[in-house]
Amino acid sequence: MGEPLQASRGTRDIWGAEILLWQRVEQQAREILGRANYQEIRTPIFEATELFSRGIGEGTDIVSKEMYTFTDRGNRSLTLRPEGTAGVVRSFIEHKRFQQGVQRCWYLGPMFRYERPQAGRYRQFHQLGVEVFGSDDPRADVEVIALALELLQSLQVTALTLELNSVGDLDDRCRYRAALVDYLTPYAQELDPDSQVRLHKNPLRILDSKDPKTQAILQDAPQLPDYLSPAAQAHFEQVQAGLAALGFTYVLNPRLVRGLDYYTRTAFEITTTALGAQAAVVGGGRYDGLVETLGGPATPAVGWALGLERLVTLLQKQGDATIPGPEVYVAAFGEGTAILALQVAQKLRHLGLRVEMDVSHSPVGKQLKRADKLGSKACVIIGETEAATGQILVKWLATGVQDVVAFPAGFAQPEWWREKLGTGPA
Ligand code: HAM
Repeated sequence: MGEPLQASRGTRDIWGAEILLWQRVEQQAREILGRANYQEIRTPIFEATELFSRGIGEGTDIVSKEMYTFTDRGNRSLTLRPEGTAGVVRSFIEHKRFQQGVQRCWYLGPMFRYERPQAGRYRQFHQLGVEVFGSDDPRADVEVIALALELLQSLQVTALTLELNSVGDLDDRCRYRAALVDYLTPYAQELDPDSQVRLHKNPLRILDSKDPKTQAILQDAPQLPDYLSPAAQAHFEQVQAGLAALGFTYVLNPRLVRGLDYYTRTAFEITTTALGAQAAVVGGGRYDGLVETLGGPATPAVGWALGLERLVTLLQKQGDATIPGPEVYVAAFGEGTAILALQVAQKLRHLGLRVEMDVSHSPVGKQLKRADKLGSKACVIIGETEAATGQILVKWLATGVQDVVAFPAGFAQPEWWREKLGTGPA
């Protein structure tokens, strides 16, 4: 036997009680996003590398050091998607969906970034995201932000903060960038090493630095909101008014810049203090230039993505879900019982019951023990006599009471089973 293998660094298995939380999130998302008429989209997990380098920006951490890029056997450079937006935009352009008016979609799936793994940060992680194409109306920004908050509220996640900023249009950002570089250049030697590199590559990201000295220098730095054009300013005010009108509170964070280059105007994050350094559960904003950058017609757009691992960790803090056991366990032992066990299990499943069939060859006592341990309410017991007569024993595990049920007639009566199981009508 070889050495047992382990999951790759930064990846994890999701199973057991945890999977129930993932299913709950997905179910709520389908419900809430469906009610707002968002359509699900599933795009490929790998795309041409160029899509991400052009879309997300060469100077970003994601593109410069975190992508899983490989050459396939046809000598194409491909990359495992580090985020969902670029692929959705590629699909939107490829299928000319810009001809169909405003488009709203959502997606859920794994993303890949070669990051240093730590709590809440993985190399394969999952995002649930939404994107809206074709509207520059601030109500679209408000709608997507509200949907994220409503999803989180429906899952009873509390203690979250909506942090809001506007990064302006391209021109605004260019002017701000120049002012920021002017301000920071005299302090260049005092900045942390990362920020020194960013000063020329991606100065806005310096605003994100956690280094205390850099933060102190930033205290008196020019602020992005002071560089907004009147149009971007008005848009931002309307987003705020819309959120307030829906009863959502937010905190303005003039230093909020996102790790991807495509944002324009609204940028936001929904953060928590419960997850240590990985505070952002949701991140998103408007990206009015991306469709054009990727070769489509100028199309305004806005969206967000939620980190599912982070959300599920928050849900786990509220208490784990328990895995429901089978309602009925089918035990069989002895000659000529195997086929009948298959048929009985099938019949009961056709009634809509959750049924597990024993396939262990264990003695009947052990099979009953397992039924009990799994939390089943009933155990169907098929021995040689039952197989010969078609009169089958059903033991109700809570009371020990037994019934004899004729096969197949008695296994086609949903009301009787539901009443006995105490689950009411299906
Ligand atoms: P992002 O901020 O890079 O934005 O990622 C969104 C969320 O994904 C984060 O807030 C976080 O919860 C989660 N996340 C990111 N990286 C990791 C990781 N390594 N491990 C665990 N969770 C992680 C985007 O990706 C944009 N595409 C969002 C967007 C959509 N903007 C407009 N539309």
